[in-house]
Amino acid sequence: MQSPRTRIVEVLAIAPPRADVRIKGWLRTVRDSKQLVFLEVNDGSSMASLQAIADETLANIDEVRKLTTGSAVAIRGELVASPAKGQSVELRATEVEIIGKADPDFPLQKKRHSYEFLRTIAHLRNRTNTYGAVFRVRSKLAHAVHCFYQDRGFVYVHTPIITASDAEGAGEMFRVSTLDPSKPPRNDAGAIDWDADFFGRQAFLTVSGQLNGETFAVGMGDIYTFGPTFRAENSNTSRHVAEFWMIEPEMAFCDLDDNCTLAEAFVKHLVKTLLEDCTADIEFFNERVDQGLLARLRHLVDSPFERMSYTEAVARLEASGEKFEYPVFFGANLQAEHERYLTEKLIGRPVFVTDYPKEIKAFYMRRNDDGRTVAAVDLLVPQVGELIGGSQREERYDVLVAAIEETGLHKDAYSWYLDTRRYGTVPHAGFGLGFERMIMYGTGMQNIRDVIPFPRTPRHCEF
Ligand code: 4AD
Ligand code: MG
Repeated sequence: MQSPRTRIVEVLAIAPPRADVRIKGWLRTVRDSKQLVFLEVNDGSSMASLQAIADETLANIDEVRKLTTGSAVAIRGELVASPAKGQSVELRATEVEIIGKADPDFPLQKKRHSYEFLRTIAHLRNRTNTYGAVFRVRSKLAHAVHCFYQDRGFVYVHTPIITASDAEGAGEMFRVSTLDPSKPPRNDAGAIDWDADFFGRQAFLTVSGQLNGETFAVGMGDIYTFGPTFRAENSNTSRHVAEFWMIEPEMAFCDLDDNCTLAEAFVKHLVKTLLEDCTADIEFFNERVDQGLLARLRHLVDSPFERMSYTEAVARLEASGEKFEYPVFFGANLQAEHERYLTEKLIGRPVFVTDYPKEIKAFYMRRNDDGRTVAAVDLLVPQVGELIGGSQREERYDVLVAAIEETGLHKDAYSWYLDTRRYGTVPHAGFGLGFERMIMYGTGMQNIRDVIPFPRTPRHCEF
């Protein structure tokens, strides 16, 4: 059995002196000043490292002296108050065990590296201050997601990752197949015979758990999903990845207004978690990454989100006098520049934009009585733009079938989904929050590639 260790985050909270404290971690720096060797140890449990001091009473002091950044060590010693600036305690080592030496070419030497460089070593970057903080925050937020929904009695549903249906109807799915691409079986007409494929039909990675989630909501009431989703959209932006995590609540007996109320409470809960449980990491981001972060997060918790229809948003964009690259008119997709104008300049806080033209939204959204819009909602937030997309769902069977066919999809492919509109259909609504975009918002990190451990983007699938 391995000897026990205390995590550095806990050691730093101990009031010194304390004898026989044992830590294990990786060396951030080694400084040799004749009699004493200073070892800065980080174990990933906190932003702060612990300084250990080794002296010539150690039998292996000459070995310790030669240690380099990145090496793994176990240190035992007495925790004492530190005279040095910037730390309250230090560890007087009585034993330093060398667990795993780092080759001298370890790429994370003590200096600032660019995010671009660190992306090329995604397997090592969690050992830096910034990424350590990002991934601790990510973990806390994931837990907070479950707390929020579980406390409200929602049922967590594991929707499938492999699917035969395009939940968004946008044709951005990755194919899942076991056929040999160099010689696929063909039918009499010469087309690929998908019947011979693993599932006996075409299959894909899911773009959203929503449709499966809906079937559970209209039987179990309030449900949520939290899992990976995949989009084969070839967009090289700082806000898109091909594999991302989404939280999708779905509620029976619920309309668009209730949906927005839940979304607002959810985002506020996540931000409160950051402010209360991730204090050291958020202060780091506020100091080093985005000086407006703390003020923005506190402001968000204290003020109501704005609500505005798409029609009004278009009118205000047209009246803004801003020069946009893309034109604005009723029927246009709002581009990032428009979204940012609305949430950053016009409103200055998160804004729900509702009731979009039906042509630019997915088939499952409920048609409004005006005949031109659907009960859709996007939540736009400063810095990030679209954080949430959702809607009230079309619960009327005939209207839904017509919408599916208008989109050019086949109703037979959605027969199981349509059944929910035949057996006790009810008004229901839900949304999807992009987890990475939430982390960007909560940390001030500007590129989505820096908030997911191993980003997947066009032409990038290393690690
Ligand atoms: O707006 P989207 O496409 O909505 C849906 O998928 C619905 N089925 C959700 C629902 O109603 N249950 O995606 C939802 C959110 C977006 O607002 C965005 O935050 C995020 O998912 N998202 C992405 N995040 C990273 N990379 C991408 N390529 C993303 N596409 C969407
Ligand atoms: Mg969307």
